[in-house]
Amino acid sequence: MAEKDKYIRGRISWRSPSNIALVKYWGKKPVQIPANPSLSMTLSNAYTKTTLEYGPRRKDENGTGLEFWFEDRKQPGFEKKIADYLDSIQQELPFLSDLHLVLSSRNTFPHSTGIASSASAMSALCLCLATLSARFGGPEPGSLDFFRTASRLSRLASGSACRSVYGGYTIWGEMKEIKGTSDEFAIPVPFNVDPVFHDIRDAILVVSSREKLVSSRGGHALMEGHPYALPRYRMANDHMMQLTGAMQTGDMDEFIRITETEALNLHALMMSSVQSYILFEPGTIQIINAIRRFRKDTGVPVCFTLDAGPNVHMLYPGKHETTVRQWIEAELIQYLENGQWIDDHIGQGPVMR
Ligand code: PMV
Repeated sequence: MAEKDKYIRGRISWRSPSNIALVKYWGKKPVQIPANPSLSMTLSNAYTKTTLEYGPRRKDENGTGLEFWFEDRKQPGFEKKIADYLDSIQQELPFLSDLHLVLSSRNTFPHSTGIASSASAMSALCLCLATLSARFGGPEPGSLDFFRTASRLSRLASGSACRSVYGGYTIWGEMKEIKGTSDEFAIPVPFNVDPVFHDIRDAILVVSSREKLVSSRGGHALMEGHPYALPRYRMANDHMMQLTGAMQTGDMDEFIRITETEALNLHALMMSSVQSYILFEPGTIQIINAIRRFRKDTGVPVCFTLDAGPNVHMLYPGKHETTVRQWIEAELIQYLENGQWIDDHIGQGPVMR
């Protein structure tokens, strides 16, 4: 190995979890600036592990200087997307043009479940890039600036990914009422969360694993000129204030009200855009109704939220774990594709390996 190359060879690994938004980001301005602030809970079991190996780019090397492997297979489609992304951040990370990168990535959750993986995948990649940047003079891993850099890089790759670089609850999007918030990067919630929200479980109920009719990119674009865009953004801001208030006072009823309204609001926007579309499946509605019934009948504070898809994230406090699991197996299982659900919970955030 040439002496100078010693400094540009290495290996970095991160595992980074997915997150579920309680107040949703839906609609954006260039470059990946959210139209409204959002608040999410970082998950634990649903994560991506990415390893970045780097070395000097050969003088005679053509192409992108990148190889991408997903679950031990070469993935030219993803490779092209990542190469385009790396190109777009070339000015921020100029050392990339001197390097050859080999990325290998795997998810813990089966990708045939229709669970969005862009938040975990892009945050894992960008934590690797931020760590690489530290080796070229960028902020040190573990520092505040490091996580902000990783969050900003993640945002540029896939908006909601910027919230996955921290554990617990995270806010992305500037709000004059909440100090430290930014459109550029996410921050951990800057207040003490009441203990009733410390151990929230997320049963991800897989209704359908079919590919979505409209991508999130297409959905965000349909918010431009959407007849309800302005009232929606106002409502999201109100929900942020109400939810952050409820999280500090321990108001579970208010937490449930906002979380469920947000989920239905997201889908109502899809159904009422100029080109309308529906991502619900019959099972989605049956589960929503069953959750509301169960809550009323038993007093167990279960609630639902939804991503841009038909699968239901059912949230509940950990102390009700046994009751809720039994109920899933007894009643909800009939609505699930191949009986599939993922047992997840609030997580501590990414880990460097
Ligand atoms: O990060 P994107 O572009 O995939 O958009 C995600 C949008 C939602 O998942 C529907 C909501 C959110 O805030 O995560």
